Amino acid sequence: MLGLLALLIAPGQAAAMQDPIVIAHRGASGLRPEHTIASYTLAIEQGADFIEPDLVPTKDGVLVARHENEISETTDVAVRPEFAGRRTTKTIDGAQVSGWFTEDFTLAELKTLRAKERLPLLRGTDHDGLYEVPTFAEVVALARKHGVGVYPETKHPSYFVSIGLETDTPLLAELKKVGWDRADAPVFIQSFEVDNLKRLKGRTAVRLIQLMDAKGAPSDGAVSSYAAMTTPEGLKAVAAYAYGIGPAKAMIRDGEAVPTSLVADAHAAGLKVHPWTFRAENAFLPASLRSGLDPRAHGRLDEEIARYLELGVDGFFTDFPLDGVHARDARRRAR
Ligand code: G3P
Ligand code: CA
Repeated sequence: MLGLLALLIAPGQAAAMQDPIVIAHRGASGLRPEHTIASYTLAIEQGADFIEPDLVPTKDGVLVARHENEISETTDVAVRPEFAGRRTTKTIDGAQVSGWFTEDFTLAELKTLRAKERLPLLRGTDHDGLYEVPTFAEVVALARKHGVGVYPETKHPSYFVSIGLETDTPLLAELKKVGWDRADAPVFIQSFEVDNLKRLKGRTAVRLIQLMDAKGAPSDGAVSSYAAMTTPEGLKAVAAYAYGIGPAKAMIRDGEAVPTSLVADAHAAGLKVHPWTFRAENAFLPASLRSGLDPRAHGRLDEEIARYLELGVDGFFTDFPLDGVHARDARRRAR
């Protein structure tokens, strides 16, 4: 029967019928401190298809999973007296940032820190102090052990090139080491920067995703604005090096507003669409999907995700993979 179906369905139609992928944003980061093995493990248990590490390097050039290289929001570094002297101020992508930076710590030093919740007022602190900062290699090993994919993001790649800690080479080396350096590997590499992705296009067959924010422009200055990238010409240019786009969800539908044509326009350019970030707390939901007035309370995230699935997205980033799996599977049953 499946063979007959395959004969009746053209390749393009088959792709269109593929299930959207559930990408665990920083792991199950709504329930565990982000970018920890505990967060990724819970995401896998909840059925995520991909786990997402943002990547920055240590002083000794090892890639670790952190959203930014300044680590005082997500680790206990600020209360560790032995590292008090490492506090400093740097210019990162044109902005002054004060704190403690991964590139000033060896991996051995970073491993002595413990992760903490980024959003304690919304998500509590029950799991603070329990988990290490994982390396990219540890995240890949976890994914392989459990049969899920990885969706790494290069954070501040131009900045790291400028200080002699280029991150593409260790990223690609780690993927090559496990045989995940092909186009059909369960891997997507994402970046907000344009030239970083173009350089990666010349070095790997792994699928690349151009991230886009609702405002502003890529920090490498390669394109005038993210908005310019969403025009038909802009999307065509992205399709020359990327497999898909990762837009802020507001670029597809801003709360209760009428949806934009971005999904259709991207598909017309041959690009997949993986928006971010879907979160259960009222604080992040449009008014009609909130439950009560407490910003910490969980509203109807499954309904929000359903709205975007209806618009044709090919996957989505969520801090709550279980809700994502439920929403994706409900739509599958309804088809
Ligand atoms: O990578 C998708 C999404 O994670 C981009 O935003 O800031 O959460 O890394 P951010
Ligand atoms: Ca990310």
